[in-house]
Amino acid sequence: MNAATLQVRVAHKSAETPDISRFELVAAGGQALPAFTAGAHIDVHLPGGLVRQYSLSNDPRETQRYVLGVLRDAASRGGSQAMHDAVHEGSVLQISAPKNHFALAEQATEHLLFAGGIGITPILSMARQLQAAATPFRLLYCTRSEAATAFRAELAATALQPHVTHHFSSNAAAPALDLAAALGAPREGLHLSVCGPKGFIDWVLSTARTLGWPEARLHCEFFAGEAVDLSAAGSFQVKIASSGRCISIPRDQTIVQALALGGIEIQTSCEQGVCGTCLTRVLAGRPEHKDMYLTEDEQARNDQFLPCCSRSLSPELVLDL
Ligand code: FES
Repeated sequence: MNAATLQVRVAHKSAETPDISRFELVAAGGQALPAFTAGAHIDVHLPGGLVRQYSLSNDPRETQRYVLGVLRDAASRGGSQAMHDAVHEGSVLQISAPKNHFALAEQATEHLLFAGGIGITPILSMARQLQAAATPFRLLYCTRSEAATAFRAELAATALQPHVTHHFSSNAAAPALDLAAALGAPREGLHLSVCGPKGFIDWVLSTARTLGWPEARLHCEFFAGEAVDLSAAGSFQVKIASSGRCISIPRDQTIVQALALGGIEIQTSCEQGVCGTCLTRVLAGRPEHKDMYLTEDEQARNDQFLPCCSRSLSPELVLDL
């Protein structure tokens, strides 16, 4: 174990649904784990060398365990399959300390929490934190069916149950979800946090914007990005500031891939513009941002970018490498 990682043991693994497994991690040495706040995730170093991010779903007041929910994703590039097939009770894993890019807005006086599918994991932790603090909140959880709904028992517990509404999309007998009604009009102090697949988040946020919700009260975290689409990509050049070396980026390779072929490694994890691991400073040129990690303001400054998915609008980018 190095200084940046912690060694944990899988104390329990169970099936939440046919596709979602629940993992309870404890410190391998039995000590307390680093504290976290709702919305946090950890990097999990998987068998085979993959690193994937998973949100913590348990109560942030707990110090002895981290609880994850992992969807077996048919489109997985190996991460979710490794968690399901190669990680078992008793397995020892390296993880990072918790990081939080999706914290509850401190200035909010009440919260609306929306979860789509596996996006429930950080939202469940938020619900627990808000319930413990007696802060008003409502949670809308959209899944295909009751059988596809993870953490049902915990959401049905007396403390959370009055705050939670389920919507099952495959229930033909139930009315379609009236999202505008579920969101309601924006009001001072009310913040929206949403997590799930990209299409779900886009739908919730665009509906909220149509209803007049201000941008500052909308918060989201993508469960996973989409595979990097290079079909319309152009070619350009990257200059390495420390050496002056120039590397051509062909239209069918990401910057990370092209630099790796040239012997320059940039550390990556998600490779989809979600996690921020590959964040790199830009010294000159104008990046074409394609990530979901930086805020609009951060992207507009053009002084950093995510080279696993982003490209260049200028013929050359000079990187602080
Ligand atoms: S590796 Fe995750 S954002 Fe680039």
